[in-house]
Amino acid sequence: MRHIALGCLLMTVAGWLVAGCVPPPKAGQVAESNDPAKKEPALDALFAPPSPESIPGGQRGEQIRLGFKIVANTQEYGQPYAGNKLNCTTCHLDAGLNPNAASFVGLSRLYPEYRARADRQVSLADRINECFERSLNGTALPPDSSKLAAVVAYIDWLSQNVPQGSAVPWRGIPRITSTRPPDAVNGKAVFAKKCVFCHGSDGQGTMAAPPLWGPDSYNIAAGMARVSVAASFIKANMPRGWGWTVTDDEAFDVAAFINSQPRPDFPAKAYDWPKGGKPADAPY
Ligand code: HEC
Ligand code: HEC
Repeated sequence: MRHIALGCLLMTVAGWLVAGCVPPPKAGQVAESNDPAKKEPALDALFAPPSPESIPGGQRGEQIRLGFKIVANTQEYGQPYAGNKLNCTTCHLDAGLNPNAASFVGLSRLYPEYRARADRQVSLADRINECFERSLNGTALPPDSSKLAAVVAYIDWLSQNVPQGSAVPWRGIPRITSTRPPDAVNGKAVFAKKCVFCHGSDGQGTMAAPPLWGPDSYNIAAGMARVSVAASFIKANMPRGWGWTVTDDEAFDVAAFINSQPRPDFPAKAYDWPKGGKPADAPY
């Protein structure tokens, strides 16, 4: 688990992302004991992606810029493949540049790789399509799609400063573990107190934040539909701009509440983990 300080600097690269950006917590507001920043300070130095502000011109630059737009505004540039109201940046915060939210930086050094859920080698393009089908509750882009190539190009470009062979230590979401079974009833109370303000009392989102359940949210086969994944994301990043302020138990409880609410099904889930290895908290 690690926590890399990240201010609003990145956000200013695209004016329309600024709305989602609120100042990072002051030192005193951050949960004291388990802030891992102290343990792995070297990550701050290693995590050195280029800013989308510096995407070059020319044909290659255009492709990278399109990839950035698809990630930051999937609703507009990712059609007709998005099936809900989310954008990639809803979860891959700051257009994939946030090291606490499944960053895209360095992924080009890790793919192709074997994935047990699919039981095959998946390319980076395949992995992007998994999120289109599940997190976006939409459809996979055709293999020869220029939009798919654009997202790959953007991730390649973000990965340029990461050396070949790097293990990409900031990969994924910093994981927390539960000390007791999650309590969705307490989670509902946490939700009312700390989340409703932006996500709405019905969880369907507001001008300030996207939906958390219902027809316009991620489907049950998405990573975020697993309580441990949602809890870890919430711990590090929510409320937006005030990551690391809820306790681990609160994060698990509110994640259990959110993931107990209705959301779209994914019929092809029947083919997941054909050789076993399904995580205990997969909701199917
Ligand atoms: C509802 C949240 C959500 C949305 C929206 C979403 N993703 Fe993901 N994505 C995840 C989660 C969770 C993971 C797994 C992270 C982990 O395992 O720590 C993931 C993983 C990935 C990975 C692999 C990361 C790795 O470390 O190997 C890629 C690539 C990816 N997503 C691309 C996208 C793209 C492109 C979009 C937009 C089309 C998108 N995602 C939208 C939640 C989301
Ligand atoms: C200050 C407003 C705000 C508050 C309060 C807030 N969120 Fe969010 N949340 C957001 C925004 C904005 C996003 C999308 C990220 C982006 O666009 O940068 C988001 C995204 C999410 C996501 C990603 C998946 C999805 O469907 O959107 C989850 C899960 C989430 N929030 C849970 C929570 C929980 C749980 C709480 C309460 C502990 C909370 N949020 C409080 C603004 C907020």
